[in-house]
Amino acid sequence: MIKLIAAVGKNGELGKDNGLMWSLPGDMKFFRSTTSGSTVIMGRKTYESIGRPLPKRRNIVISRNPELKIDGAEVVYSLGDAIKLCEGDAYIIGGASVYKESLPFADEIILTEIDESYDGADVFFPDFDKSLYKKETLAQGCDGETSYTHVKYSRIHNAQVDILPYTKDRIGDVAAFEKELRSQENFYFWDIDDSYISAVEKSFDDPRFNNSVSLLAYKDGVVVGRIDASLITTRFDGTISAYLDWICVLKSCRHEGVAQLLLAGLRSALKEMGVATLIALMANNDEAQKFYRSIDNAKIGDEGIRIEI
Ligand SMILES: NC(=O)c1ccc[n+]([C@@H]2O[C@H](COP(=O)([O-])OP(=O)(O)OC[C@H]3O[C@@H](n4cnc5c(N)ncnc54)[C@H](OP(=O)(O)O)[C@@H]3O)[C@@H](O)[C@H]2O)c1
Repeated sequence: MIKLIAAVGKNGELGKDNGLMWSLPGDMKFFRSTTSGSTVIMGRKTYESIGRPLPKRRNIVISRNPELKIDGAEVVYSLGDAIKLCEGDAYIIGGASVYKESLPFADEIILTEIDESYDGADVFFPDFDKSLYKKETLAQGCDGETSYTHVKYSRIHNAQVDILPYTKDRIGDVAAFEKELRSQENFYFWDIDDSYISAVEKSFDDPRFNNSVSLLAYKDGVVVGRIDASLITTRFDGTISAYLDWICVLKSCRHEGVAQLLLAGLRSALKEMGVATLIALMANNDEAQKFYRSIDNAKIGDEGIRIEI
């Protein structure tokens, strides 16, 4: 199991000038007892800031420097190599760059959430979508005037959700999804009647839809969400971008990571098509805003979001 462990200030502060910004012996004790007997994986800078291999743990240090040798630690050249070496629990212990890269693989994130803000931090824990995790408070602690909480975020697994392309033989499944959607939501447009079904059937043979990408999220054999995008090729330099037409998940299946799985599926489909950027307008409701703000490699403008594929 891959676990991230970090101590963070109120604004996600991790450190400054390759060091920590606090001295919390109680938290160090918690870190030691949590990671003892396991493997710890860290970036080269974090290793240097600690200054020695951590005792009673297998130490793996990631660096791009092929010359680097460390007594008492294994040096590898990528995060993937580090993870391949691990058996049992592996704790990613920082720093910022390694946390960011390993976040998609994290089964658990153990944070010491310090009840203070720190000015001048130059590294921060990456933003992550808390709706994908179950939060559990492990313990409260206090060192001098500084109080903190040890919190565990465990990833909610969605093994039962499959992302599949919207093909003609799935129109019936989508019609059932659309009907359910209309019964769960207040908005209302085209009725799911014979004319709707026949128009959708025809669209699969219509060349105007060749530039559309549609994916479906199936849970227990039923469609619970869909995502649709259109490709846009510019005459200026021939680059292809995509515009996100729609992403929607049944209310009953929200907060289960389905939207994130749909977006990840769309990203990999677009990557294969040579698309560099996905552009979307952002709906002005809290839920949609939260979702868009959790997307990595994305820039938010006034009302739109530009997601690098
Ligand atoms: N609050 C906490 O819990 C906590 C925990 C840990 C660290 N920190 C703080 O975080 C800061 C250090 O974080 P950081 O982001 O600057 O550095 P870092 O992640 O510790 O180390 C970065 C270095 O790791 C190597 N590296 C990273 N990703 C790699 C990859 N994919 N492939 C190969 N090598 C890779 C590179 O080493 P080379 O340059 O050798 O190629 C890179 O320069 C310090 O301030 C430290 O105190 C805080």
